[in-house]
Amino acid sequence: MITLNVNGKNRALDVPADMPLLWTLRDVLGMTGTKFGCGMGLCGACTIHIDGQPARSCLTPASAAVAKKITTIEAIGATPAGKKIQAAWLASDVPQCGYCQSGQIMSACALLAANAKPSDSDIDAAMSGNICRCGTYPRIRAAIHQAAGSATEAAK
Ligand code: FES
Ligand code: FES
Repeated sequence: MITLNVNGKNRALDVPADMPLLWTLRDVLGMTGTKFGCGMGLCGACTIHIDGQPARSCLTPASAAVAKKITTIEAIGATPAGKKIQAAWLASDVPQCGYCQSGQIMSACALLAANAKPSDSDIDAAMSGNICRCGTYPRIRAAIHQAAGSATEAAK
C-alpha cells in the first residue's frame, strides 16, 4: 500500500511500487485525461507534474512520487498558469484530434509557471519532447504566447 497525493488529495493505493504512474492514474484511479502514447518517454502524451515539474508518467514508478505532489490535466486549470493556458488553447482552437493535447498543456503550464514571458526558442525547448502527429505546433506556440501576453516573434 502506498499513499500518493494526486491533485491535492491523498489516495491510499494497493499497487506495486514499480507500477508506472500512467497506469496508476488511468487504471486504478480512473483518471483518463493523461494519455498513453509510446510508453517509452518519447512522445510526451503522458506528461503530468510532480512537484510542479513536468514528468513522463509512463516512465515514473508510483513509488517515486510518494510524499510529492502529483498534478494532472484534470486539475491543472485550478493553477494560475493552467487557467491562462487553457483559455488560450480554447481561444486559439489548438487541438486537432486532441490526443496529444493534455500532455502539451501540462508541458506548456510548467513552462509558463517557470518563465512568465518565454521566447520562441524557450517555447521550442520546453515543448520539444511533446510530439503532435497532427502538427499543431504553430498554434501551440501562438497559444503559449497568448497566455503569456507576449507577441509571437517573427518566423525564423
Ligand atoms: S507515453 Fe509517456 S512519453 Fe509517450
Ligand atoms: S492534436 Fe492530434 S496528435 Fe496532437
